[in-house]
Amino acid sequence: MSRLQVSQRVLDLPPYIFAKLEQMKSDYIMSHSDLIDLGVGDPDFQTQENIVRMMKEQLDNPDNHRYPSFKGEKELREAISRWYKTNYEVELDPETEILVLIGSKEGLAHLPMAILNEGDYALVPDPAYPAYLSSIILAGGIPYFMPLTRGEKYFPIMEDIPQGIASKAKLMFLNYPNNPTSVMADEASYAKAIRFAEKNGTVIAQDFAYSELAFDGLKPLSFLSVKGAKNVGVEFHSFSKTFAMTGWRLGFVVGNSEVLAALAKVKSCMDSGVFKAVQYAGIEGLTGPADALEAMKKEYSVRRDLLAKGLNRLGWDFDNPGATFYFWVKVPEKYNMDSIRFAEYLLEKKGIMVTPGIGFGSMGEGYIRIAINLPSHQIEEVLKRLETL
Ligand SMILES: Cc1ncc(COP(=O)(O)O)c(C=O)c1O
Repeated sequence: MSRLQVSQRVLDLPPYIFAKLEQMKSDYIMSHSDLIDLGVGDPDFQTQENIVRMMKEQLDNPDNHRYPSFKGEKELREAISRWYKTNYEVELDPETEILVLIGSKEGLAHLPMAILNEGDYALVPDPAYPAYLSSIILAGGIPYFMPLTRGEKYFPIMEDIPQGIASKAKLMFLNYPNNPTSVMADEASYAKAIRFAEKNGTVIAQDFAYSELAFDGLKPLSFLSVKGAKNVGVEFHSFSKTFAMTGWRLGFVVGNSEVLAALAKVKSCMDSGVFKAVQYAGIEGLTGPADALEAMKKEYSVRRDLLAKGLNRLGWDFDNPGATFYFWVKVPEKYNMDSIRFAEYLLEKKGIMVTPGIGFGSMGEGYIRIAINLPSHQIEEVLKRLETL
């Protein structure tokens, strides 16, 4: 027998349900050709042409082949600062309040290491994007789950966090517009979280990965635009969803300079920044024409309306998403199944892949997440199949 042993931290990580889903999917594909995958959180749009063109140009510049600046290229940080001011009326100092990331996940995952001491509490929403929980565990922190409920519009109730935990909570993750529930947060909710953070010395990390994907003329609120936010927190952004650039690995975090300095220090031990050509392509995304984003949003809202209409016809229970490309749908009672079993059932019976809610935490049990990263004709096909489920 091997004497190799992996770390306790790795053993403590929750089972990766998404690996099981991958397996289910590949088993299905082995014997079927009709899979429709509504599980993926990856836009099916191409990165817009001007961004790709800029990347090609930048590839030819030998200066870009060298190590980048570890904070991110100055030009990109300046472009982010202007973009934030225009979009959210928030002032950011490009030198101390902006840090470029290798995709937002990288920064989110390194943040607990910069904030938590061994045994500190970190507050994590349930359900949530799984990277928050695993990064807390890897940093030696203790997660405390803040339940998100439909009745509270999926925002955690600060008063429900026991004082003994609150006073030791060094970090709180928030994520609006929210994956998987697709809700947005309002100013009063953020203000409550800020008061909590001020009182307890907690750093708030608000994940704004879906900042630009809102419909019906709605505009998600930047956490940093709320009074006092910059004193206690930071906001994470991603190029992945806004510009359909998931594979490029580009994101950034902005806000409290002390938090960013600590995160930059952690990062300086781990990575050497983002390929400069990718950063210049990112500037093109932020400063170039917005028509591709507008077209993408329009297409998402067409798909959303189509799926919403169909699911309503079937009598399935969900709130119409105002943002993100996710539907958070209750497992219909008549099937009497938990979320994993229902996802398996949908795959076995109808070749439809969805994400079981339990993959986002125990409060996700009883739900499935449906992503609309497929063209309308495939969504129509899904609805046709569901009619005979
Ligand atoms: C809520 C949320 N945050 C962050 C990310 C990671 O995005 P990135 O590609 O910038 O690492 C995702 C990806 O699905 C997400 O859903």
